[in-house]
Amino acid sequence: MAKYRIAVLPGDGIGKDVMDAALMVLKEVGFDAEYVFGDVGWEFWRHEGNPLPDRTLKLLRETDACLFGAITSKPKEEAARELDPELRDKGYVYFSPIVRIRQELDLYVNLRPCKAYPGNPLNYRDDIDLVIFRENTEDLYSGVEFFPVPDELDGLLDKLHPKYRRFHGLPADHKAISLRINTLEASERIIRAAFEFAQANNRKSVTIVEKPNVVRETSGLMVRTARRIAREFPDIQLWEANIDAMAMWLVKNPQDYDVLVSSNLFGDIISDLAAQLVGGLGFSPSGNIGRDRALFEPTHGSAPKYAGQNKVNPTAMILAAKMMLDFLGETKLARQIEYGVAQTIKEAEVRTYDMGGTASTTDVACRVARWAREG
Ligand code: NAI
Ligand code: MG
Repeated sequence: MAKYRIAVLPGDGIGKDVMDAALMVLKEVGFDAEYVFGDVGWEFWRHEGNPLPDRTLKLLRETDACLFGAITSKPKEEAARELDPELRDKGYVYFSPIVRIRQELDLYVNLRPCKAYPGNPLNYRDDIDLVIFRENTEDLYSGVEFFPVPDELDGLLDKLHPKYRRFHGLPADHKAISLRINTLEASERIIRAAFEFAQANNRKSVTIVEKPNVVRETSGLMVRTARRIAREFPDIQLWEANIDAMAMWLVKNPQDYDVLVSSNLFGDIISDLAAQLVGGLGFSPSGNIGRDRALFEPTHGSAPKYAGQNKVNPTAMILAAKMMLDFLGETKLARQIEYGVAQTIKEAEVRTYDMGGTASTTDVACRVARWAREG
């Protein structure tokens, strides 16, 4: 029997291409696992009215970790039109499988390392090495939204908050409400995860990225929590930055930052910004981590125009596999894979189109695997 059981959800489009590449590298370094493939994505939405069938959630609960490729998602109306005819008008509503998985399995940490591997022509600078902890389960992603705004809620808000008055008179379908809900528990655990990571990895600072001067209650909760938890980690400096200023600082001095922690939406934004500083979507992996479960994925989507062409850069997916190995405690194999990626980038011989080369997805995977075996 293999040491680990890994759920593999390639998903849609290039998700399949990059998953093949990552699995090849894992195999080449001798990772001892049984891979169990699961269903997720557009095809299952169209034919079953559910992009994340229950059997897939069950699989995720029964395996040691999950590798996830990418999925296609589309706006509600378009999704409804693409359903198989016999499923239409039966009340099926499209939802994002990845957001649902994060909530179902309580994968509360979204971990986004943004590290520049020297020699990558797409690097903004070669000395960037920061790690973003994004809260993954609530905030503006709570999904508690209203359109049109029900009269009952409209009346209640008018009663409860003086600042609502100017919205009160508007027709129900001239306004929309999305609730930003942040809890003490979720704020604590994401901030604690960031500090614990900083401590374990000899990082000097944790920067909390919020906007407490304007979004006083929710961002205020995050910042207060950060100050309290920081006291338990006297060796690590707490920095505070506003999300807007942070966007600027990340472009000005990205090399100064170490560990960043933020709520769901702000974390999402700075993660994409930071990813672009180290080569963009093709280089940017992420982990969705809970207490004892985790899912690892590249941050790019399904890039339909390149689907099945064996053309896109598999580095992000390979680095996601490397993060999975770290999570499982297979740090030696993780280091080998990272070495393989770093060497492949540095030697500049095998490169996909995004780096100005002509190599295929498989070519890159083979090269990474070859270096990784030596690493
Ligand atoms: P995308 O990330 O799929 O692709 C945008 C562009 O980035 C591509 O056209 C390509 O030029 C480049 N790109 C992406 N990955 C690359 C790689 N590995 N190597 C080289 N170049 C790469 O984003 P897009 O086009 O906005 O969305 C396509 C679909 O993916 C949509 O249905 C969207 O909803 C979905 N999506 C899914 C995500 C997920 O599965 N977590 C995340 C983002 C988008
Ligand atoms: Mg994003």
